Amino acid sequence: MHLTDEERRILDGAFGEPQRIALSVLVKLGEAYGADRMLEITSAHVVGSSYQIAGEAGIEIYSQLVQQGARVKVRTTSDPGSIDFARWREFKTPADYAERQIKIAELLDRMGVIPTWTCTPYTTFNVPRFGEDLGWSESSAVVFANSVIGARTNRLAAYVDVCAALVGRVPRFGLHVPECRRGEVLFELDPDLSGGFEDHFFPALGYLVGQATGDRIPVILGVKHATFDQLKAFGAAAAASGSVALYHMVGITPEARTLEEAFGGRAPAERVSVGRREMVRTMEQMSTGQGGPVDVVGVGCPHASIDQMRRYAALLRGKRVHPGVQLWICTNTVVEEMARRMGYIETIEQAGAKLMVGTCHNDCPLGAWGFRRLATDSGKFAYYTPTTVGTECVFASTEACIQAAITGQVERE
Ligand code: F3S
Repeated sequence: MHLTDEERRILDGAFGEPQRIALSVLVKLGEAYGADRMLEITSAHVVGSSYQIAGEAGIEIYSQLVQQGARVKVRTTSDPGSIDFARWREFKTPADYAERQIKIAELLDRMGVIPTWTCTPYTTFNVPRFGEDLGWSESSAVVFANSVIGARTNRLAAYVDVCAALVGRVPRFGLHVPECRRGEVLFELDPDLSGGFEDHFFPALGYLVGQATGDRIPVILGVKHATFDQLKAFGAAAAASGSVALYHMVGITPEARTLEEAFGGRAPAERVSVGRREMVRTMEQMSTGQGGPVDVVGVGCPHASIDQMRRYAALLRGKRVHPGVQLWICTNTVVEEMARRMGYIETIEQAGAKLMVGTCHNDCPLGAWGFRRLATDSGKFAYYTPTTVGTECVFASTEACIQAAITGQVERE
């Protein structure tokens, strides 16, 4: 791999031990994937901010880096942590667990990481531009940055993302290379598919696409309109059920103004037709549990936007969450603050729902609650929470989830 003079000096230790270690890791990664050189990045986003992911090894590594004077070289934001820093006691998080997460937060602060604690950094403090190279992890953020914004990042692993942040570089391979961003699998939607599904259409379609695509690049033809939040939900589901890091939605995402552009002039390697039958079958798979009593409801995965907060408040106005149900809405501190000023939080809390800020059901230890059945409108939650929270899962529309929280019963759709 070609290295610049500066990169050689970094490897010789001229800029300190943290940079030397970080660049050697990235060079090894690049060599494994056939990278020709390193690229400078404009920002990093790190998942090892979560104690659940970083563990004791993370505390040890970050402590050593801090002792050696490590500072991030580019704008770097943190993914959700494993606690709600303000309310961890309300969520029954064990005190020693919370202390470990707080320790990680202190160490990242000292390295200069912006404490966003969100999986949607692209909405506020870390907003990439089209064509920029990034060093991001967090599958839902990576797929959004690549697909909706047209920035370029591979799905970095925990710690590799920190290495990228420390030297402001990543090896040039995979999605940093324009020819590797061309579509591979074509999903053709039946023209009549738009009717009859509510807002859970996009996460379900994402789930279906992820399952059928694996780690290839899907192209979706036939979506006429999609909002920011729908694209966010679609990508998060596709990145969970598959390893999708980039999708093209023809006429909607920036590198797919036409079908030809999405495939870069090549023919699709595979074509998949998606009709009502396929969608219904996917939604059935996404629910591992039957309808009936529900004890926890999770919305806001990926972290809820201000538009979603408005919707939750409207659905909860004048209502009361069932006493046997926990309705938790996941978001970040910025949206929380805006929603508070706009009166949405007051409505939400008066109804008995809770905000879960800077974390989510999937990242927190929830064993103390003994939950048995979760209802969610998120494809990513549907994929992970049966394992992470240990519950049955019923996937439903946002409206049906809020209704389930009020009645204490969820219907399997
Ligand atoms: Fe974000 Fe947690 Fe979902 S990190 S994407 S809210 S699983």
